[in-house]
Amino acid sequence: MSIIPISASACYKVEIAGGLLSSLGQRAAQVVSGRVAFVVTDDVVADFCLHRAVSSLEDAGFRVFTHIIPHGEQSKAGPNYLELLNLLAESRLTRSDLLVALGGGVVGDLAGFTAATYLRGIPYIQIPTTLLAMVDSSVGGKTAINLPMGKNLAGAFYPPKYVLCDPEILSTLPENVFRDGCAEVIKYAVLGSPKLFCVLMHRPIVEQLPEVIETCITMKRNYVQEDEFDRGARQFLNLGHTLGHGVELASNYTLSHGQAVAVGMAMVSRAAVSLGFCTAETCRNIEELLTRFGLPTRTEIPHCDLLQAALGDKKRQGDKLTLVVPKEIGHCILHRIGVEELPRWIALGG
Ligand code: GLY
Repeated sequence: MSIIPISASACYKVEIAGGLLSSLGQRAAQVVSGRVAFVVTDDVVADFCLHRAVSSLEDAGFRVFTHIIPHGEQSKAGPNYLELLNLLAESRLTRSDLLVALGGGVVGDLAGFTAATYLRGIPYIQIPTTLLAMVDSSVGGKTAINLPMGKNLAGAFYPPKYVLCDPEILSTLPENVFRDGCAEVIKYAVLGSPKLFCVLMHRPIVEQLPEVIETCITMKRNYVQEDEFDRGARQFLNLGHTLGHGVELASNYTLSHGQAVAVGMAMVSRAAVSLGFCTAETCRNIEELLTRFGLPTRTEIPHCDLLQAALGDKKRQGDKLTLVVPKEIGHCILHRIGVEELPRWIALGG
């Protein structure tokens, strides 16, 4: 088993091992004193994981409540959040009890935000069931729901007590959900690991999943420890996300997060070539790797719609935005622009 300790405003461990889900109860009992657990999951994950999670918790002495939300980004919304808060209150969960987020980024963000705000904060555990959630969203304590104006516009930094990462769960994923996570893996390679980039280019990812997951989480851990509250280095993790969130919103979430991030990464790379930040070869390599993983690199969305959606990005600071721009594989820079420059980046990247 790999153990990655995270030491920021709170300290917790990410544990990675095949089959770890079966020992959830015993691990949960080590991080909370209460013996009531409320498990949130979605209708897809429920079919293949919920029973195992609940049995393990019950075997460890927990009384378990469950709540199943419809899968998909639309569930990360205000009404579901309020419903979940009410269910926790009706179940009389206390501050020593436990919320368990069993699912991908949507479940993790919704349950995490609910844990952050119910009774002004109760403990929660992340059990990511998608590659995307394993390598990115389950670690670092970002929790949020979407508002009609944009993604993750209401949220909190609220670290979990523990992250249980069982790569065996990934074998049950539909191909497109798995590919989504690959976009985030490629993001880490472009940000800081030419070695990972090379490995992804030349060896099937399924042959090396635990190592790839560990590499990405370790990189994320380093960004989170340096800048937990996203004022500096953590912003690198937004590579592809400023335009990507715009693509996701402008497509009305018909494009998945991973697909949108892939388009965002490719667009910012093409614009970076035109503006002299990186070579055409670097951009071609990024596009080639995304394409090999079956991810899109372009969108038909009109530039004006993309611009409007991207301007709603919560990371905008007044009339400034920070773009993450590739210089070469494994090296990116934070580039601050005025919002009036964004149309040019979109036009050059389109
Ligand atoms: N997903 C980006 C971050 O955690 O900062």
